[in-house]
Amino acid sequence: MSNNDIQRTVTVRIQRFNPDVDKKPHMQDYQVKMWPGMTILDALHEIKTHQDGSVTYRRSCRHGICGSCAMHINGRNTLACKTPIINEVQKNDTVTIGPLPYLPVIKDMVVDRTSFWEQYLRVKPWLLPPNDIPEKEFRMSQEEVDALHDAEACIMCGACYSSCAVIGLNKKYLGPHALLKAFLRVLDPRDTAPAERLEIVSQADGVARCHTIFNCIDACPKGLNPTQAIETLRKLAQKRQKYEEARRERQKHLNEPIPS
Ligand code: FES
Repeated sequence: MSNNDIQRTVTVRIQRFNPDVDKKPHMQDYQVKMWPGMTILDALHEIKTHQDGSVTYRRSCRHGICGSCAMHINGRNTLACKTPIINEVQKNDTVTIGPLPYLPVIKDMVVDRTSFWEQYLRVKPWLLPPNDIPEKEFRMSQEEVDALHDAEACIMCGACYSSCAVIGLNKKYLGPHALLKAFLRVLDPRDTAPAERLEIVSQADGVARCHTIFNCIDACPKGLNPTQAIETLRKLAQKRQKYEEARRERQKHLNEPIPS
């Protein structure tokens, strides 16, 4: 950021909607003086603290971990706390902020995530471990870890879900977030129910509904790849019984050292 930028005042244009008083959303402008390192979330705090306490948004960790500050910034979904405002200021010195698309707005940037969590629960996102838990630890090979493609790094922010055009048309679709979690469990050698999981994702509104538009990849603030995960689930679903048999064999050796 140059000295000129430090002095710069920018317009933060926020989509406002309070269902108690507004018939429809409208845009409201606020002037914010930038400081070095200022994020979009910082700008919102500045507005809320010093200009208009009614501006409403979610946030918690401020470090890209909790996923609560996902919103629509200059036309794309991302985390407000990880987005430097200087990167978003457009030619007319304006940044435009709104709620995540395709979800009912409760107020301003706060959306109702009920459908998001309902779809998530459908894939049974928790680990179903074997009865025989090793005394010390499960041992996974490097290949097994690599195959997960960092899917465990998902913070459930909803950026992928509300960028998905299929979700825009059909709220019964499991969605990229739930399918990425299903992928994580199916690929995890500790999990005992891959066939059941693959059955769930093969049902109507599961993997077959993905149109491979890649919006979820573009939106993910963690750089994850739900589309690739969905493709893997599609392939594994065709041989789910064999896959589960192989899993049972693998689990007989989960507490043994991995041969180098
Ligand atoms: S406030 Fe937690 S991810 Fe942004």
